[in-house]
Amino acid sequence: MEKENIIRPSLLSADFSFLNDEIEDMIRHNIKSIHFDVMDGSFVSQISFGQPIFKSIYNRFKNRINFDVHLMTLNPIKQVKQFIDIGSRDITFHYEVFDNYQDYISLKNEYPDLKLGLAFSPDTEVEKILPSLPLFDNVLVMSVVPGKGGQPYIEGSERKVRKLNEYRKERNLNFKIIVDGGINEKTGPLCLQNGADYLVCGSYYFKAADKDKAIDDIYNNFVKVQHGNY
Ligand code: DX5
Ligand code: ZN
Repeated sequence: MEKENIIRPSLLSADFSFLNDEIEDMIRHNIKSIHFDVMDGSFVSQISFGQPIFKSIYNRFKNRINFDVHLMTLNPIKQVKQFIDIGSRDITFHYEVFDNYQDYISLKNEYPDLKLGLAFSPDTEVEKILPSLPLFDNVLVMSVVPGKGGQPYIEGSERKVRKLNEYRKERNLNFKIIVDGGINEKTGPLCLQNGADYLVCGSYYFKAADKDKAIDDIYNNFVKVQHGNY
């Protein structure tokens, strides 16, 4: 497990007036992937950013850093092609608006290199999403109510991570487990310990005065937990 690879900063907490500098800074800190939160004002009440901003930053940085797109929109199937056309190959949809498997199967057939993610909100029981998982490459456990950065981690979210990890082993599935919301030096290690592969980090990462230390703290606390002395 490479420590910089675990953390996926959510651009939502960046300073948008310095977007270029913020991304250059992530690259300097060896971050491998940026989480791009798209909010439509309907699925969640906030509006964040969409295709035009994604296009600009994707085209500028695509050879130096990866992007994953988290669609918090009411009808994501309407937007997905637009993100694919720009170049995105890692897109996550919400279970709560997921209605037609065939759409996702067709996408997979049309774009075999597309990584499909399934996100689920805190009110959705983890058991509900399990049958859909063979279709997906990633599952995004929302550990806050979707809609904004800076909220506290919902305690017990790690139990969902554990359940997913057990299910993945039992069924011999390969999806990755990503946790999104309220991740810091305490909640991050807890999720990793329970089987998470990646952590989306907004405010904790962007507010850190020392970003290397912020990344190290998550990783080192996880290692301590593994050795039973944290
Ligand atoms: C919430 C978003 C998250 C959020 C994470 O709807 O999906 O990605 O920006 O921010 P923090 O880490 O501050 O909770
Ligand atoms: Zn997100």
